Amino acid sequence: MKNVKACKIALLASGSGSNAENIVRYFEHHPKVEFPLILANKTEAFIHERAKKLNIPSYTISKSGFENGEALQLLQQHSVDWIILAGFLLKIPDNLLQAFPNKIINIHPALLPKFGGKGMYGSHVHEAVVAHRETESGITIHYVNENYDEGLIIFQAKCPVLPADSPEDVAAKVHELEYRHFPAVIERVVCGALTR
Ligand code: GAR
Repeated sequence: MKNVKACKIALLASGSGSNAENIVRYFEHHPKVEFPLILANKTEAFIHERAKKLNIPSYTISKSGFENGEALQLLQQHSVDWIILAGFLLKIPDNLLQAFPNKIINIHPALLPKFGGKGMYGSHVHEAVVAHRETESGITIHYVNENYDEGLIIFQAKCPVLPADSPEDVAAKVHELEYRHFPAVIERVVCGALTR
């Protein structure tokens, strides 16, 4: 559709950024979705290398830069419509929640409300899942609100956890679910909103 304004998505990541890269590649030939910038909160995060390869400008904004409005200013300068947290570990400050109401989406590597909250991220989640002898884990994609991992759930998918599985085994199964579902869920939510 020629006359439809493109939807601009900012990706936020704290570390490797494999989900962020997978999302950009999924939308490579999508006429309505653009990624004007990537934000990370650490200069050494590998996401910056991926951003270079993908030809997307990436910026490091510290925790205080998120809190004092620096990130917000950058996002507004790039006319961002949606914010996707793909392995982003800082709490989202009120200034962003207010500027992007119901426009910030996070992925969590477990079946919320289990194994969520402060300190529950990345490998810590999978270690807790194995320590609790869970028989399943999975992913939760949800809107972001003022509390860690408590926003409205958009989508969940499950994978089995076997008694012999290590936290690394669970992480691999969860990553596979993330790669398979996250881009398609973003497409449904973001492009669905465009046609509303
Ligand atoms: C992903 O598994 C994501 O679900 C998780 O961090 C990982 C980042 O991997 N996010 C959280 O734990 C948020 N609480 P990636 O950098 O390779 O995409």
